[in-house]
Amino acid sequence: MAILVTGGAGFIGSHTVVELLNEGKEVVIIDNFSNSKKEVLDAIRKITNKDFKFYEIDYLDREKLEKVFEENKIDAVLNFAGFKSVGESIEKPIEYYTNNISGALVLLDTMRKYGVKNFIFSSSATVYGEPERIPLTEDCKTGSTTNPYGTSKLYIEQILKDIYTSDPSWNICILRYFNPVGAHESGLIGEEPQGIPNNLMPYVARVALGTLKELSIYGDDYDTKDGTGVRDYIHVVDLAKGHIKALQKLEKEKQGLFIYNLGTGKGYSVLDMVKAFEKVTGKKVAYKIAPRREGDIATCYADPKKAKEELGWQADLGIDEMCRDSWNYINRG
Ligand code: UD1
Repeated sequence: MAILVTGGAGFIGSHTVVELLNEGKEVVIIDNFSNSKKEVLDAIRKITNKDFKFYEIDYLDREKLEKVFEENKIDAVLNFAGFKSVGESIEKPIEYYTNNISGALVLLDTMRKYGVKNFIFSSSATVYGEPERIPLTEDCKTGSTTNPYGTSKLYIEQILKDIYTSDPSWNICILRYFNPVGAHESGLIGEEPQGIPNNLMPYVARVALGTLKELSIYGDDYDTKDGTGVRDYIHVVDLAKGHIKALQKLEKEKQGLFIYNLGTGKGYSVLDMVKAFEKVTGKKVAYKIAPRREGDIATCYADPKKAKEELGWQADLGIDEMCRDSWNYINRG
């Protein structure tokens, strides 16, 4: 039986495929390379010394997707396909809703047709909107998302809840990622944002590398220890391992709908991250204080207790490893 990974050449998808292969799982990847590169597939083979099946298709293409289910015995699906740039989603809501929501619906409908009901969905802490309380537990209020990307995650969560209500033989795990950073320690796979990065760590790494001049810190007047925004940064390899535990949970439970925060439970400020990056890499990160970015919140970090208790998962890697591996990847030459 194989695990189908949509978006398996992407940042989180590729790291999860590595962990799946390391676990001895049979993996089928689909990706249309809309935001990833073909070389990632070879890098995965190199890291793991293992192979997988690959289809270059768009998950909105129902006919081709059905062929994947015809040709393979799929047991579970991990859905990493989807657009993820917050800024772009505000400019292109139709593209974002079509790709993220219609894509998920085509995938879920195809799964239903082939009797595959084990599903792991990449959600985001963004569904909590303005946090009801900190640290965030899974039962905190969701909603009030500030952009189509975040809203697409929120809607897909609701769709999954409705599907489960209609047919409780589904077995669904929703994983709410906090702020994924870092890269595989081999330096062979990592985060490759197109154009100028929106997210903090890829930006910091490019300033250290010299390809960007300076970081703009969006606000130093938040109600936090140093005035800059506080987030729960999580190493992508820890995150990937969380999916293995979620899969084991689905194997054990057979049916249900489960929601977990995947975060470290620790909040670091923008200045903490800049300092850690400078310490680990020995490079200077030039920055200036800029106005707050619209839609940003002061503080966001997880209570990861539920994942620890029910999945037996917790993040092991700290910010030094996150900075080291981000740098190792970006500085690979
Ligand atoms: C963002 C998205 C979130 C998404 C997540 C994926 C928003 C409002 N939220 O979260 O939906 O799931 O990325 O990782 O965009 N910062 C700077 N300068 C920069 C970039 C960031 O100061 O050039 C600060 C931000 O203000 C924030 C922190 O760094 O305090 C982290 O920002 P970022 O990496 O963009 O993540 P989030 O905004 O938390």
